[in-house]
Amino acid sequence: MAQPLITLDFLDKAPATTAGAWPAAAGADVASTIPAPGRKLYIESYGCQMNFSDSEIVTSILAAEGFDTTDDLAGADLVLLNTCSIREKAEQTIRMRLTQINSHKKRRPGMLVGVLGCMAERLKAQFLEQEKIVDLVVGPDAYRDLPALVAQVGSGQKAVNVLLSREETYADITPVRLNSNGVSAFISIMRGCDNMCSFCVVPFTRGRERSRDAHSIVREAQDLLAAGYKEVTLLGQNVDSYKWAAPDSTDGSERVNFAQLLERVALVSPQLRVRFSTSHPKDITDEVLHTMARYANICKYLHLPAQSGNSRVLELMNRTYDRPWYEERIRAVRRILGEDCAISTDMIAGFCSETEAEHQDSLSLLDFVRYDMGYHFFYSERPGTLAARKLADDVPLDTKKRRLQEIIDRQQLHARARYAQAVGRVHEVLAENFSKRSQQHLSGRNSQNQMVIFPKGNFQKGDYVNVLVTSTTGAALIGEAV
Ligand code: SAH
Ligand code: SF4
Ligand code: F3S
Repeated sequence: MAQPLITLDFLDKAPATTAGAWPAAAGADVASTIPAPGRKLYIESYGCQMNFSDSEIVTSILAAEGFDTTDDLAGADLVLLNTCSIREKAEQTIRMRLTQINSHKKRRPGMLVGVLGCMAERLKAQFLEQEKIVDLVVGPDAYRDLPALVAQVGSGQKAVNVLLSREETYADITPVRLNSNGVSAFISIMRGCDNMCSFCVVPFTRGRERSRDAHSIVREAQDLLAAGYKEVTLLGQNVDSYKWAAPDSTDGSERVNFAQLLERVALVSPQLRVRFSTSHPKDITDEVLHTMARYANICKYLHLPAQSGNSRVLELMNRTYDRPWYEERIRAVRRILGEDCAISTDMIAGFCSETEAEHQDSLSLLDFVRYDMGYHFFYSERPGTLAARKLADDVPLDTKKRRLQEIIDRQQLHARARYAQAVGRVHEVLAENFSKRSQQHLSGRNSQNQMVIFPKGNFQKGDYVNVLVTSTTGAALIGEAV
């Protein structure tokens, strides 16, 4: 499957290393330690885009302490893995990676190894017992403490901070854009999750939901535009429940919901595209859909994970909506935004007690919606979740895998059909990179998040180009500038 670029994407396998140019000011309000310039930081991110975004915050905090990023693991002084716990496989990947890192550490005894993110939060100090090479364990709300923790480890102790916060949003920290194409960037608008989907570990690893100061979000978008960026993606586990009130508006005069935030960011400039992820079917409002319709620069693409197409399973999952509700939300998208709005989903195959007929309902939902894209998984029981405590993980692994494959195959049919529909039309594409295959071609995405490849001509990264699409590979569109 093509690498998803906008939805929260779950890289159980491929890590992204982060070497970057040096940041301007990192406005971190961090514990004061003595900066030691020239130390080398190597950071790898796993899991969803929130983790990738957090790594940019971590890099910014450590830059203020004199750490330069490197993509040379062997020569690093501090190696950080920003980890994911969403499925068992994600955690296994991290453990394997730690074993590899151990061999580097043996050759470079001064190297410090830290684990950040969701797996750090889930396992806490246990990590130090289980993985002897780990020196540092830091949860997602404790990154401001990193300089002090690194200093502590430097003096020979192990260090752990996994305190979760009800307030932390890192609003004042200017992220260092890592692995950036200079065209699109993420902006974290909220943290944590207050939903309790029974399969999900995120509420335990990320803590309570909190929304970031709307002004700081708009400022970040303005700064990105001034730095030449053309697209921002607003990130949260459930962006539709974004809710912020100015602390000084005692009369409640300044309250911002997600639709209003979206509008404020869209107004930064018509030249700045706005995307967002993830939307929750129970919370997405018509107001959000109307706001999308009103602004050409808000991309016509929604990631609206269904998880299952069966109401009984959805109830067991504690998703708090049922199939008819989900279908009604899809009708609202079609009514307000038309067929041109792309929709993607996540589905879980083989959740506790799911029957064959209930699995067929997931397939029929794929047919009902005709999703443009999908990210599908088989159920992986996570310790401590509601499902792990209350429900039996009783669908055999081979059945889970077979159902997953059926979901993937069905989704591919719809994705191909949606790509085929795009042929013969002109699309506005934001050029993001050279095509992987040829320096003579640029690649970018249309508003619907479909990948489009076209001959470079005189265009450059960051240009908006009208491309007449002439063919499709089934996973990308091919065309020419018109
Ligand atoms: N906040 C988003 C999802 C975040 S987790 C939402 O509510 O939709 C990303 C995806 O991972 C989920 O949509 C789900 O499909 C999948 N996932 C989460 N926990 C899982 C588990 N225990 N087993 C398999 N897939 C899981
Ligand atoms: Fe997990 Fe549900 Fe929260 Fe998404 S909304 S992060 S699936 S608990
Ligand atoms: Fe994201 Fe994985 Fe944590 S999906 S929120 S990094 S468990």
